[in-house]
Amino acid sequence: MDLLEGRHHIVVPCSPGVAPFLNKELRALKMPIIEEKSTSITTKGNFADALKLNLNLRTGQRVLWRLASFQASDPDQLYDKLIPLPWENLISADGYFSVTSVVDNPTIRDSRFANLRVKDAIVDRIRRVCGRRPDSGPLRDKLVFYLFWQQDEVKIYLDTSGPTLAQRDYRLDPGKAPLRETLAAALIMASGWNGSKNFINPMCGSGTLAIEAALIAQKRIPGLLRQSYSFQSLVGFKNMDLLALKATAMREARPDRKIRLIATDIDPEMIKVAKENAVRAEVDDVIEFLVCDFAETPIPQGGGVLICNPEYGHRLGEEEELKVTYRRFGDFLKQSATGYEAFIFSGNRNLLKEVGLRADRRWSFDNGGIACDLDAYPLYSGSRINS
Ligand SMILES: C[S@@+](CC[C@H](N)C(=O)[O-])C[C@H]1O[C@@H](n2cnc3c(N)ncnc32)[C@H](O)[C@@H]1O
Repeated sequence: MDLLEGRHHIVVPCSPGVAPFLNKELRALKMPIIEEKSTSITTKGNFADALKLNLNLRTGQRVLWRLASFQASDPDQLYDKLIPLPWENLISADGYFSVTSVVDNPTIRDSRFANLRVKDAIVDRIRRVCGRRPDSGPLRDKLVFYLFWQQDEVKIYLDTSGPTLAQRDYRLDPGKAPLRETLAAALIMASGWNGSKNFINPMCGSGTLAIEAALIAQKRIPGLLRQSYSFQSLVGFKNMDLLALKATAMREARPDRKIRLIATDIDPEMIKVAKENAVRAEVDDVIEFLVCDFAETPIPQGGGVLICNPEYGHRLGEEEELKVTYRRFGDFLKQSATGYEAFIFSGNRNLLKEVGLRADRRWSFDNGGIACDLDAYPLYSGSRINS
């Protein structure tokens, strides 16, 4: 039995609100949707598909490859069912792995005990076959196994990604209250922007929205930037394989279209950070960065998407001061952004009311544990304005 052969279930977790966009990405990659939940989507494919998802997905958090599913009513049964699996084909006897779990079984009070039984089975099996045993511990930068144990139903997965796929390796300095890259990509997908019109990002902070937009516009997949994935620690995986995957993706990348991407922020330090991030993402030549108050952001003719993530009071700034900012931002949109569709992402509904425009669509997300909304304001001539 080879645990990486054949077609298996593949689970892609995502943050709340992101699943519809992840669904779209999976379908675009010709992957079937087996089950959609609020924080994960299950698809099915071969191991090459799991690697493809790691490199291509913009909104998923990680890619979990199902190794096995079976029934076990207690920890001894769990151990007995795991030990026949050929773990030595995944982990080298000199390797390192970690186990994590979500357990709801009456015989388990502390999920760490379930993790321990998984670890014992893997280690005992490899010692028996190879005469030596791999190390295991809490570090999650090599191979990580996920145990989902619900009553008697056990599912065990290999996390093929390692650190979350939000880590694209272009953002070393996060700046102030940055958006996760996966969430920024979902917001851009919600806006409907696809690289064919202008993209304006006032209050850009560390530039996450503008950089993700530039990557989308150039059809550059996030995996071209990221240096390492958990699957590289698998026995027999050659880094040449990863280079080959990246080379294929490079051939599929399209050149930039003639549109403008503009990102501005009042804080010169943030623009410096955003530019450095854009250099690492290799999109610094497509984004125009500018230090200015949002109201001075250039708005080119031709229309497009204007999107921003202002501070919203939970972490930075106080609500009363921010009311003035949101009011001014509403005025700026009404006066300067006709012909655009504007989007504001905020975790404070009171502040959004100050914009003075009526949103015609709204999506709800979670940003670091804070419920946030993305509101859409069409600014075509004759748009409705709240009194
Ligand atoms: C929440 S942060 C944006 C974070 C960004 N989405 C990211 O991923 O890094 C809000 C930004 O608005 C900027 N800002 C605040 N008031 C501004 C103003 N009046 N004009 C322009 N930028 C402003 C701040 O400097 C800060 O970088």
